[in-house]
Amino acid sequence: MPNVCVIGAGSSGIAAAKALHQRGFDFDCIEKSDRVGGNWVWKNRNGMSSAYRSLHINTSRERMEFPDFPMPKSYPDFPHHTHIAEYFDAYVDHFGFRDRITFQTGVEHAAPGADGVWDVRLDSGETRRYDALMVANGHHWDARMPEPAFPGAEVFAGRQMHSHDYTGEDPNFFRDKRVVVLGMGNSAMDIAVEASFSAAAVYLAARRGAWVIPKYLFGRPLDQISTQAGVPLRVRQAFFRTLLKVGVGDMQRYGLPKPEHGVLEAHPTISDDILSRIAHGEIAPKPNIARLTERTVVFADGSEVEADIVVYCTGYKVTFPFFDADLIAAPENDLPLFRRVFHPRHGNVFFIGLLQPLGAIMPIAAVQSDWVCDYLSGRYALPSPPAVRADIATERERMFKRYVASKRHTMQVDYDDYLADLVKERRYGANRARERGHALPVRPRAVEAAAA
Ligand SMILES: Cc1cc2nc3c(=O)[nH]c(=O)nc-3n(C[C@H](O)[C@H](O)[C@H](O)COP(=O)(O)OP(=O)(O)OC[C@H]3O[C@@H](n4cnc5c(N)ncnc54)[C@H](O)[C@@H]3O)c2cc1C
Ligand SMILES: NC(=O)c1ccc[n+]([C@@H]2O[C@H](COP(=O)([O-])OP(=O)(O)OC[C@H]3O[C@@H](n4cnc5c(N)ncnc54)[C@H](OP(=O)(O)O)[C@@H]3O)[C@@H](O)[C@H]2O)c1
Repeated sequence: MPNVCVIGAGSSGIAAAKALHQRGFDFDCIEKSDRVGGNWVWKNRNGMSSAYRSLHINTSRERMEFPDFPMPKSYPDFPHHTHIAEYFDAYVDHFGFRDRITFQTGVEHAAPGADGVWDVRLDSGETRRYDALMVANGHHWDARMPEPAFPGAEVFAGRQMHSHDYTGEDPNFFRDKRVVVLGMGNSAMDIAVEASFSAAAVYLAARRGAWVIPKYLFGRPLDQISTQAGVPLRVRQAFFRTLLKVGVGDMQRYGLPKPEHGVLEAHPTISDDILSRIAHGEIAPKPNIARLTERTVVFADGSEVEADIVVYCTGYKVTFPFFDADLIAAPENDLPLFRRVFHPRHGNVFFIGLLQPLGAIMPIAAVQSDWVCDYLSGRYALPSPPAVRADIATERERMFKRYVASKRHTMQVDYDDYLADLVKERRYGANRARERGHALPVRPRAVEAAAA
């Protein structure tokens, strides 16, 4: 069988490594840091974690855990990042593949040679050859600042920073400061709430509205209330609209902009606290930033406030610094893939966890990894190239039509539907593989060359 390099040992990389390990592949998992867990390791020495001291998951424990290794029942429904990092660490020991991870080593460059085998250059100077790559380098570490910068950003005398660089390490970071937080995603919610307990003033600026979804409704994690695949979008929207109407009310009642999109048409903004802090007058909603002056922030409605810190919670870029840009890149965060895993042009590179589910990434990454193992061992065959391209085009059309046009909505999937569709696709692909006599789609040239 082909040998495989897994890039990264965050939750997606360890899911890939575990699948390869269980299926008997020859593989290495290369990890920059000295530990697994990626984003969930607060102050990770790789410098890539976007976690802050107070971070808790916003997808509930039972939606996030790997099905074959449940989180301890002693964990709360929405555990702290320390719990999550411990859990991923325990996962590696439970399945026994820690020795397959090369720690404190980065992949600097990866390119296919003339024979299609990947030359993977490590920052140790070594180059290794692999028949296949599983890319799991994460997509929430490369900060996206407002582009272009707001007029006056260069003269603002206070501090401007991205949420990625907010660690929460200093409990007095926001104390007595006037803080403007920009964005309506989950980073903005958490950081505005956190700042509101010590800052002199907090303004939450947004260029569009969002439906703020609570973590709990009716005493249950909301993401566990409706978990059935195949329910038409309109029905689910009507259901959630009613839930939110009853449980939360209109966003305008809190002074937030009215969302111009329907429920489930944007990545969920989940917070139990933001509406309460607004309702208590501790956070003041504002429209988008229009410009900055030396000491103030001016908003789109012409209002102006004095500010000491502006925190841009403006999301992330999807980047693969180890690929040449003309080989594989995601301009505007957009990398078209067959079911978010298979590259339409490169048959021996696979992406794990490179998607934004309405739900958690981890169980999806586990299924994707298993699926790739099926493929590499000849037990799953892809549809024909035109069928793959048509499938990608259909999926993309559906997604872009449904979601608000934004760089954060380029890889959205519905958790339950995505997994249910994969079950079907794997069944079709298993039949195709049988018809093709279980031929290996990726020849193990690197393995053969090493043996020779
Ligand atoms: C603040 C925040 C909170 C979040 N909360 C949730 C949540 O509650 N639920 C949820 O499902 N998702 C959440 N997410 C999404 C997040 O992306 C996933 O939780 C998860 O971290 C994805 O895991 P990953 O392995 O794909 O990426 P990461 O966790 O980013 O791990 C990538 C790994 O790859 C390594 N790596 C990168 N480049 C290289 C290289 N060149 N060579 C070697 N190693 C490399 C890194 O060191 C890192 O260990 C959150 C994201 C953020 C930013
Ligand atoms: N577990 C948790 O509690 C938790 C906490 C934080 C983050 N996360 C996750 O981490 C991921 C990233 O979240 P995020 O909140 O950092 O980023 P995000 O979801 O990409 O949200 C970015 C926000 O910034 C806005 N924005 C971007 N560029 C802008 C600009 N130039 N001017 C004005 N507004 C701009 C976006 O608006 P548009 O919609 O208009 O583009 C959006 O509201 C998500 O998957 C999220 O769920 C989870």
